Amino acid sequence: MKKKSFGVSLIGMLILSIETIQPAAAAEDTSDPERGANLIESRCSDCHTSESLIPAVQAHPETERAEFLDAFLKTHYVPDDLQRADIIQYLTSETAKALDQ
Ligand code: HEC
Repeated sequence: MKKKSFGVSLIGMLILSIETIQPAAAAEDTSDPERGANLIESRCSDCHTSESLIPAVQAHPETERAEFLDAFLKTHYVPDDLQRADIIQYLTSETAKALDQ
């Protein structure tokens, strides 16, 4: 009996740990690519078009794009964390789309 309940609690812990990972991923999903597109239009378009930004993003390996943009944009006009996440969401998804075509 004891062994069985230990087994069940192990599975319970596994489920718990999976569930604790998902909310973190979901929290990042509150970034919104549409807001990102609007931000780029209002804050970056004096110097860049979103089309011209995509090659700059493409130049970085896929797994490093978000990290690069996060570090770069923090000191390049987007100090706000959520606005930066929106812009990164937009630029990385547009870059992925551009590469698929
Ligand atoms: C006043 C002009 C100006 C504005 C506004 C501006 N940028 Fe830039 N941006 C530049 C210049 C100049 C460079 C190239 C030199 C450099 O890397 O800093 C650049 C480079 C970049 C790069 C390429 C970096 C690299 O090393 O590959 C990205 C990505 C970028 N900008 C994104 C943005 C975004 C997103 C915004 C709006 C939030 C923005 N920029 C607003 C002038 C601007």
